[in-house]
Amino acid sequence: MCGIVGYCGVAPASKILLEGLKRLEYRGYDSAGICVEEKSDFKVIKRKGKIKDLKEIVPDGLPGSTGIGHTRWATHGEVNDRNAHPHMDDTGKVVLVHNGIIENYQGIKKRLLDEGHTFQSDTDSEIIAHLIASLYQGDLEEAVRQTAFLLKGTYGIAVMHKDEPGTIVGIRNGSPLVLGIGEHEMFLASDVTAILSHTKQVIYLEDKELVKVTADSYKTSDFNSNEIRKTIENIGWELEQIEKGGFESFMEKEIYEQPESILRAIQGRIDRDGATAHLGGLNMTPRQLLNIKRISIVAAGTSYYAGMVGAFLLESIARIPATTELASEVRYKNPVVEPDTLYFAVSQSGETADTLYAMRELQRKGARVLGICNVVGSTIARESDGGVYIHSGPEIAVASTKAFTSQISVFYLLTLLLARMRHLSFEEGLRIVDALEKVPEMIKTILASSKHIRELARKYSRYTNFLFLGRGLNYSVAMEGALKLKEISYIHAEGYSAAEIKHGPIALINEETPSLFLVPNDKLRDKVINNMKEVKARAGKVIAVAIEGDQEVEAIADDVIWIPSSNPVVYPYLMVIPLQLFAFYTALELDRNVDQPRNLAKSVTVE
Ligand code: F6R
Repeated sequence: MCGIVGYCGVAPASKILLEGLKRLEYRGYDSAGICVEEKSDFKVIKRKGKIKDLKEIVPDGLPGSTGIGHTRWATHGEVNDRNAHPHMDDTGKVVLVHNGIIENYQGIKKRLLDEGHTFQSDTDSEIIAHLIASLYQGDLEEAVRQTAFLLKGTYGIAVMHKDEPGTIVGIRNGSPLVLGIGEHEMFLASDVTAILSHTKQVIYLEDKELVKVTADSYKTSDFNSNEIRKTIENIGWELEQIEKGGFESFMEKEIYEQPESILRAIQGRIDRDGATAHLGGLNMTPRQLLNIKRISIVAAGTSYYAGMVGAFLLESIARIPATTELASEVRYKNPVVEPDTLYFAVSQSGETADTLYAMRELQRKGARVLGICNVVGSTIARESDGGVYIHSGPEIAVASTKAFTSQISVFYLLTLLLARMRHLSFEEGLRIVDALEKVPEMIKTILASSKHIRELARKYSRYTNFLFLGRGLNYSVAMEGALKLKEISYIHAEGYSAAEIKHGPIALINEETPSLFLVPNDKLRDKVINNMKEVKARAGKVIAVAIEGDQEVEAIADDVIWIPSSNPVVYPYLMVIPLQLFAFYTALELDRNVDQPRNLAKSVTVE
């Protein structure tokens, strides 16, 4: 979604802003702009379209070493040059960029119109510039603070005033903002990837905090003007991790990174001697862990499907009743919080509004909510009552791949830990550990067979409807496979329990609707094979992801993607990789933008 970059320093600001915006492209946007302060004047350049379009209209060698930039993902007002940020007030004194949504903007705008203000855009953001300008009495920081009291909603804002050259004020309430500290230069960003090439020293602003920066100074304070001393943190990511490293797209790179990213999620956390796992960040004593009676997981999208795998593992192996719910639904259902229930909020970005608000609602009711996040220092990671980082490294492609396999890795570890405290024997625990440790190598063999998956993608890319069918642990993997296909190829796909098709979706089956079946060699295999036969009997095409050497499946399916035989408990890892590749190659066949699919944003910070 929207992205912010700000720069105060000695270098040409326009170059740094454009580079930062380029790095934020992955978040999804439809227009972009910058404002550079030039001899006490503001030069605003903004445009609908991509950063490359914006670059075309930014003059080479544009002077000025203070500025702000923005990528906009439209919420209020259509996608056009006028609605792109930065926005100015009508005196031209204040210029700002804004992420988030101002819920009471209509009332404020009406009042400002009555007072004679004129507006250039249809956005909620522009009213903030007008308010700041009208409250300004020689102190930008104070005017921003006063404005904050009038706003309802979420915001991350970077703002400049003509009378305070070389200064940017940033404010955060519900939309992330981070300060980057360099040598005689300071950066503001909504996301560390925008500034990682310049500095790794950062300060994360909390909600209701402001920062005032110049090239050589920064001051953080709260809404009551109290100065706050904040810890400088080190970004753990390397620059190479946010670059394509020889791959054509981030999505391909991230799919291929999974043997290593899974290893990063599990290594150092498995305890072979005890056939269990260590998860330091839970902040819970063994006695507290033993007293858990129920587990409830909240998440959105791919993280929700990872949560479903987690709930299945926890219930079937650790014998703790566990459910996963859509965070967006939990928030508004007035959830019942029970004292012995442990809650998890799963979020790659750690910024997803639905998940964050559900977590806050649960916490308000007294729940202990642990976070399972990728982005260190993200809001969910900081506001949760403890948690586990998945250590995937930055995930840049909008469609989540490696985060999914790392999120389920954390659930495998959690299951081992909690199960070994309960009914799981050492020997059974060790069998899971063994299977888990072999996963990265097995994934490498699947990735090595990608040519065949590419051929299948070519063969099937002309179809416009798919069913993805699995059962048990692989039911949620089928849902994830369908999501991947629809979001990057724009082909309609439904994920279902294979058992459910006879309750409705089988009506869709004909020669134009292929079904992709996940066929493990576990106790559900024969049932899934029966479902495959039901589809074949209705002239449906069948692609199966099956275990090497399964001749019965080979005889029924039109096409088979083989995966190595393993302990069935880890099949979600092995089943999801072919589905990611299938979606990826189908999207390439259809000439889609795999990294930035239409209408989607990486980190969904609005409800
Ligand atoms: C799908 C995808 C989304 C996200 C969802 C939650 O490929 O990326 O469905 O999984 O928006 O995002 P996080 O995990 O950041 O909370």
